[in-house]
Amino acid sequence: MANISSIHIIFFLFFITSGIAVSATVFTLHNSCPYTVWPGTLSGNSITLGDGGFQLTPGASVQLTAPTGWSGRFWARTGCNFDSTGRGNCVTGDCGGVLKCRGGGVPPATLAEFTVGSANAGMDFYDVSLVDGYNVKMGIKPQGGSGNCRYAGCVEDINEICPNELRIIDPHTGVIAACKSACAAFNSPEFCCTGAHSSPQTCTPTNYSAMFKNACPSAYSYAYDDASSTFTCTGSNYLITFCP
Ligand SMILES: *[C@@H]1O[C@H](CO)[C@@H](O)[C@H](O)[C@H]1NC(C)=O
Repeated sequence: MANISSIHIIFFLFFITSGIAVSATVFTLHNSCPYTVWPGTLSGNSITLGDGGFQLTPGASVQLTAPTGWSGRFWARTGCNFDSTGRGNCVTGDCGGVLKCRGGGVPPATLAEFTVGSANAGMDFYDVSLVDGYNVKMGIKPQGGSGNCRYAGCVEDINEICPNELRIIDPHTGVIAACKSACAAFNSPEFCCTGAHSSPQTCTPTNYSAMFKNACPSAYSYAYDDASSTFTCTGSNYLITFCP
């Protein structure tokens, strides 16, 4: 009898610990850019990761742990200057002049978007989106996990090929800091998927979204881009690299 109880306890502990192992997702944010970035984080629910934002010097990594059901996004801010109280501004991705974001960043910014493990048998959904434009190369690499688990990212420098009418110029350096979406640049229904173009059937690719898609085939290029831009994986952690 004592043996059976012990076995039950061991199984019980096994299920408890394996439950903990799959119920949290670890995001490792790594800066491979030759310049400092200030990642911003925005949660779709009340759990804020990394205080909403922090500095990440070249070569540095930070790990953030999200509970099951977390959804949110990460992006890079560039060209930031913050004082000791965390007030200041960024050339791209700025979130209201604070280091610790309490809302999203100003477009254009490349986004890494996640929903981790609640519905659909614990599956995670993730994508890299250029729907709000582009500022920095980003990649999402699943670590472990089961299922499709493919690399998602935008590893081409879109700033280099950004047409004049979409460019954001860094006022301090004069270099192209980001590339606007056609929606942000022209604010018209066909680019923004609004009005008569508010469904997947009526909002089709444009020559601008095609430019983003050609450079970064695995990233979302406009609001109703095809499902090939969303990836799934189960029970994984994720390496998010800036300038992979
Ligand atoms: C898209 O088409 C418009 C209209 O023909 C043209 O003015 C614009 O330069 C094109 N943009 C790109 C990125 O090809």
